[in-house]
Amino acid sequence: METPERILILDFGSQYTQVIARRIREANVYSEIVPYSTGARKIASLRPRGIILSGGPASVYAKDAPKPDPEIFNLGIPILGICYGMQLLAHFLGGEVAKSQRREYGRGLLQVDRKCGLFRGLSGSIEIWNSHGDKVTRLPRGFKAAGKTENSAYAVVQKGNIFGLQFHPEVAHTPRGREIIHNFVKGVCGCKGTWTMSSFIDKTVEEIRDKVGKDRVILGLSGGVDSSVAAALLHRAIGGQLVCILVDNGLLRANEVESVKRIFGKGLGLKLKVVDASDRFLSRLRGVSDPERKRKIIGTEFIRVFEAATRSVGKAKFLAQGTLYPDIIESVSIDGNPAALIKSHHNVGGLPKRMKFKLIEPLSQLFKDEVRAVGEALGLPKEMVWRQPFPGPGLAVRCLGPVDRAKLQILREADAVVVEEMKLSGWYYKIWQSFAVLLPVRSVGVMGDERTYDFTIAVRAVESQDAMTADWAKLPYDLLGKLSTRIINEVKGVNRVVLDISSKPPATIEWE
Ligand code: XMP
Repeated sequence: METPERILILDFGSQYTQVIARRIREANVYSEIVPYSTGARKIASLRPRGIILSGGPASVYAKDAPKPDPEIFNLGIPILGICYGMQLLAHFLGGEVAKSQRREYGRGLLQVDRKCGLFRGLSGSIEIWNSHGDKVTRLPRGFKAAGKTENSAYAVVQKGNIFGLQFHPEVAHTPRGREIIHNFVKGVCGCKGTWTMSSFIDKTVEEIRDKVGKDRVILGLSGGVDSSVAAALLHRAIGGQLVCILVDNGLLRANEVESVKRIFGKGLGLKLKVVDASDRFLSRLRGVSDPERKRKIIGTEFIRVFEAATRSVGKAKFLAQGTLYPDIIESVSIDGNPAALIKSHHNVGGLPKRMKFKLIEPLSQLFKDEVRAVGEALGLPKEMVWRQPFPGPGLAVRCLGPVDRAKLQILREADAVVVEEMKLSGWYYKIWQSFAVLLPVRSVGVMGDERTYDFTIAVRAVESQDAMTADWAKLPYDLLGKLSTRIINEVKGVNRVVLDISSKPPATIEWE
């Protein structure tokens, strides 16, 4: 395959490195993240159109500060240094960087120098996002300032095709930052922008084939977007060498197993093994009401069932997972301290090391919307690609208190009504999530001439960008009315429906 136009990103440990890569993909240009220590010769051999030095938490003066091979500045390839990357430029090319006790953090206004190629199409002052400690105090020879903020005369520096930005153009808080990055990639580096999600698929398919050879790959298919797209991608690459395992834990939504069988088994012709382990899960969960214990039990049981299933399908060398980039940043922190644990998300990195598989994670550089674009390009149906997230522990964390088959059945039916009405009204695809929660609360009602004493269903519907924060969705009254009437009329065991109007934080999206 022809080498695509590529931009290399040298990673100095910024939490935003992948966001830079994503912004470049949005310009339809292929980008690759490489360790900061990659040598200049290796870099030259990859023939990038441009190099970006990412930000990073270090100070250039620190003893073990990550530094690039200084020869990269002599390659004649356009370079953009962002934040720490800019300080490295200054440090290596003869400027001065001052240590600062205080971090400059937050919004600022940048006065743009219109003559600078990075600002084509921009003028006046633009909002930017800062997050830096040290700053450049003297420019290296030949450099000029091409933008300033109230706090810094050197917020943007340039010499020929080498640029430094003190702020972060890649984050959403720099609203015109995407244009700045695109100006670098296209205007300065001359990329045409012909790379697409189908180029991603072609490249990844080749990589998977190279890596896997003739061996077998196992994948745990949950029916969610991520594992489904990973399965379709691997299936395209290696066909019958992929075996998918769907564990039915008894906590899945209505018709889940059937729809996975229909789309993947019948539709794609993929090898699918469905393990009905609902008895095992439900008997371990009997009487357990503590949310964390429920999650732990489900996580442990999943591993056991999955391990046994992998043994039964025969020898496999690889385990594939639909891990996305946000899963990685949420579960690992750069300084090695585990991020504060709010809920244990068992399906991220949860499989034990003793399962001696090599991992394949073909989506690990992508964000959710990019994964959806890959799914569409692979021809997966809309109902699969655009489905809302569903937690690994399934309905167990939406059935408050101890779970049993009867309560799960009530919840499953109520949830199916919510999903159906949300889809019919078009709201399902507009918001982040919408589902039913079964409360272990009974209240009195009257149906026909009879007194009832039944459960309550809470409807949870939230808007969100990334699930880190969320707001309750303002669904129209007639839709809410329909949900309530249908659930109470159609679901035996429910006589009351309430609406959850809490945002996250302080509530979470799921109730447990
Ligand atoms: P919370 O309840 O923490 O949920 O606000 C944030 C998002 O994560 C989903 N979620 C999970 N996803 N395994 C998952 O794969 C889990 O254990 C899990 N728990 C919550 C939740 O549905 C929401 O989208």
